[in-house]
Amino acid sequence: MSMFNRLKSATQSFSLYRQRKSNTGLSLYNEGFIPTFCPFSRRVKSLFFQTVFVTSISISTAVADENLGPALKPNLGQPAPDYIGSVVSPDGSGLPAGKGTVVAGKAIYDAQCAACHGPDGKLAANPLAGGLGSLSSAKPLKTVGSYWPYATTLYDYIARAMPYNQPKSLSANDVYAVTAYILKLNGIVHKETTLDSSSIVNIKMPNRGGFFELQE
Ligand code: HEC
Repeated sequence: MSMFNRLKSATQSFSLYRQRKSNTGLSLYNEGFIPTFCPFSRRVKSLFFQTVFVTSISISTAVADENLGPALKPNLGQPAPDYIGSVVSPDGSGLPAGKGTVVAGKAIYDAQCAACHGPDGKLAANPLAGGLGSLSSAKPLKTVGSYWPYATTLYDYIARAMPYNQPKSLSANDVYAVTAYILKLNGIVHKETTLDSSSIVNIKMPNRGGFFELQE
């Protein structure tokens, strides 16, 4: 049998196997697929798996490329766009005027954020709260509260990237408010807090001391 035919029949056994086992959810290796269905030399087996594997990689790359709109393609080799200049720094530079309360933030959060982050910010897939003191444990949970060193970064992140489905749609007052509310969910500020460009700089995040300064 030529190598091509062997590969072909190996592929057929593979599809038969897939049909028979497709709804069991068990992996090929657990089920002893290789010894039972692939009675060829090790080299042919590995060639077969390489072929299947490499083919699926190239298919998925092609699909991914097709789906990427021009805005999502990396623009390598170009000067960085101007908006980088507006990054909010820990010293407060880059922050706009405005202010927002925890109470106002709760209304915005419930309407525009809770669906993806959970009503209390603790939805396991995208948690924003909790995990305090867990970083040195066997199961560290990195959240805004347990991990982020500066509240200004929280402002910056939300202003640029959230809500995920409509980034940059919030006003400066809304971002201050919802930032205040996320800090409240983490127990970092109390419920009467109003955040603005000076009070946000004075917030001491729990993990502030957990980072090293880069030495130039
Ligand atoms: C449609 C779902 C969705 C909505 C709505 C949404 N988010 Fe997010 N958010 C995400 C996802 C997904 C991530 C993780 C993004 C990533 O890592 O690239 C994220 C990340 C974040 C983070 C960073 C968390 C971390 O520790 O890295 C913050 C802060 C945040 N969101 C705040 C908000 C706020 C505030 C709102 C409402 C104004 C909001 N999000 C609305 C999906 C959502």
